[in-house]
Amino acid sequence: MKVLGIETSCDETAIAVVNQGEILSNVIASQGKIHAPYGGVVPEIASRHHIENLPIILRSSLEEAQIKLEELEGIATTCKPGLLGALLAGLQYGKSLAYALQKPFIGVDHLEAHLHSVFLEHPGLRYPFLGLVVSGGHTHLYQVQQFGNYRLLGATRDDACGEAYDKVAKLLQLGYPGGPHLDKLAQEGNPKAFRFTIPKLGEDSLDFSFSGIKTACLLEVQKQKDHCSDDFKRDLAASFQEMATHFLMTRLDQAAKRLQLRTLCIVGGVAANKTLRQKLAILAEEKNYEYKIPSVPLCTDNGAMIAYVGWRYFLEGKRSPWSLNGLATCDLA
Ligand code: KG4
Ligand code: ZN
Repeated sequence: MKVLGIETSCDETAIAVVNQGEILSNVIASQGKIHAPYGGVVPEIASRHHIENLPIILRSSLEEAQIKLEELEGIATTCKPGLLGALLAGLQYGKSLAYALQKPFIGVDHLEAHLHSVFLEHPGLRYPFLGLVVSGGHTHLYQVQQFGNYRLLGATRDDACGEAYDKVAKLLQLGYPGGPHLDKLAQEGNPKAFRFTIPKLGEDSLDFSFSGIKTACLLEVQKQKDHCSDDFKRDLAASFQEMATHFLMTRLDQAAKRLQLRTLCIVGGVAANKTLRQKLAILAEEKNYEYKIPSVPLCTDNGAMIAYVGWRYFLEGKRSPWSLNGLATCDLA
């Protein structure tokens, strides 16, 4: 079954064609450069660019997949959570296509799609597993019991991990989006230069918090008065990254022990992080866990993960009504 997946929940306009779980095309137009001068995503600008980009990305995606529009057998589109205007741009486009082509339509949850992005490269992955979504908007740890059955184990109480990356990168004037820049710079710094500790959130808690370390970084920058040297920037980036990735690993390990789960997956934009990927491999080796992490293009927002989840719902005979609306916030579990 060839399913088209449309993703416009933030600043990536993405459309993919997935056939029986196999990617035929995965086209992503990032608006990163457009939002860079503002230091963050401007919602209205994002929506307007989605509207301009969608027909162009659709054409590229069909060409790459070497199929015609009429050959599609279903359309899946992100409907929640995200920037509302951005979501509505994609949702209305997806519904209109499905209506005109008389094909089944389904709305997909963005987090459910990230959690399943691993299946695109590891179709044999078995439930249950621990799924950690780390992105610009989320730091959510789930027990993924089965397809459609999720239990939230912990979430950030303030900033999302990617958001903290972006804010610390902004303090260091590294450019936008800051996560990848900070990651690169951190590779050259001393991760022990500044000692940042994991916040205490209660013995049983699997929650996260990144606002404390963000403030600690701000105080260090303020101590430098008007000039941060390159060495300072490298060391602060490395120390921040050390703490952030150690925190994520600690929670995964605690949850795996508590729930007796042996498979760990990390998904979402921050899963592209080099140190995080290395630390996950080391943890898995030490504790004999199985782990899966998507290749970098599938960590970031993409249409393939939306098409994949849409396909799984189509297999169960599910469809969304034409009246389906977008939701800026919602709970997956
Ligand atoms: O999943 P995603 O593409 O969009 C959301 O749903 O938010 O995640 C984007 C986030 C941004 O905060 C970006 O800075 C962060 O992922 N990110 C990274 C890296 N690549 C992207 N953070 C740390 N290291 C990276 N290499
Ligand atoms: Zn995302």
